[in-house]
Amino acid sequence: MGLRRVNGVLATASSWQGSRHQPRYTGDPRPGSMNAGEHLICSSSLWRHLTARRLLPWLLSGVELGDHLLEIGAGYGAATGELQTRVSRITALEYNRSAVNRLTRQFRDRGIGIVRGNASQLPFRDQVFSSTLAILVLHHLRTAELQDQVFAEAFRVLRPGGIFVCFEISHHWLHRIAHVGSIYAPVDPTTVFPRLSAAGYSDISLDTRRGAFRFKAVRP
Ligand SMILES: C[S@@+](CC[C@H](N)C(=O)[O-])C[C@H]1O[C@@H](n2cnc3c(N)ncnc32)[C@H](O)[C@@H]1O
Repeated sequence: MGLRRVNGVLATASSWQGSRHQPRYTGDPRPGSMNAGEHLICSSSLWRHLTARRLLPWLLSGVELGDHLLEIGAGYGAATGELQTRVSRITALEYNRSAVNRLTRQFRDRGIGIVRGNASQLPFRDQVFSSTLAILVLHHLRTAELQDQVFAEAFRVLRPGGIFVCFEISHHWLHRIAHVGSIYAPVDPTTVFPRLSAAGYSDISLDTRRGAFRFKAVRP
């Protein structure tokens, strides 16, 4: 199995686990695929502003990110720059090739490691990160099995005591319409506790807010 060094981290491929939940999805099944509306929103300065001023303060309240954060599915980097003000080192993972190129241009001089890879098969060794974070990524994984692989992979790359933080939308018909031509497999918040427990996490907490929710969990 090949190893390469990215942002001081030896990167490799890994294994996964499955589970029983089966959300539905529509559209292009390739990892990372989004429709034009999602691209427009995720690339907007409004989303960047809301992420920095509203979302991250809520998502990260009471969270100790430690010294090395893995941002999963960084997209247009709406959170990445702001996250850099909160943690000394960031590695940003993204599957979409043009997003990776954009992130590299945007952040290469700022010491942020940009890695192309799949969230369900993280290209990193075990126990490298102090925290992992995914904003609006999980509903883009086609099946619950793939989402469970993300939970397992985030767990694997966390050091003991490290924290996994996620922000997701709840299922709503408007969200389904907004994802026509894209992947839409919303995580059922009632499944978060059993699924994260099965992956080995402890200290799991979940909060909902206006059609969305956040959850946190610790690798013991
Ligand atoms: C809705 S966007 C959110 C982007 C960013 N987190 C934000 O809040 O602006 C979802 C991102 O996750 C990425 N993504 C989806 N599935 C992925 C996977 N399996 N591996 C890596 N990235 C993925 C997509 O390419 C896209 O950039």
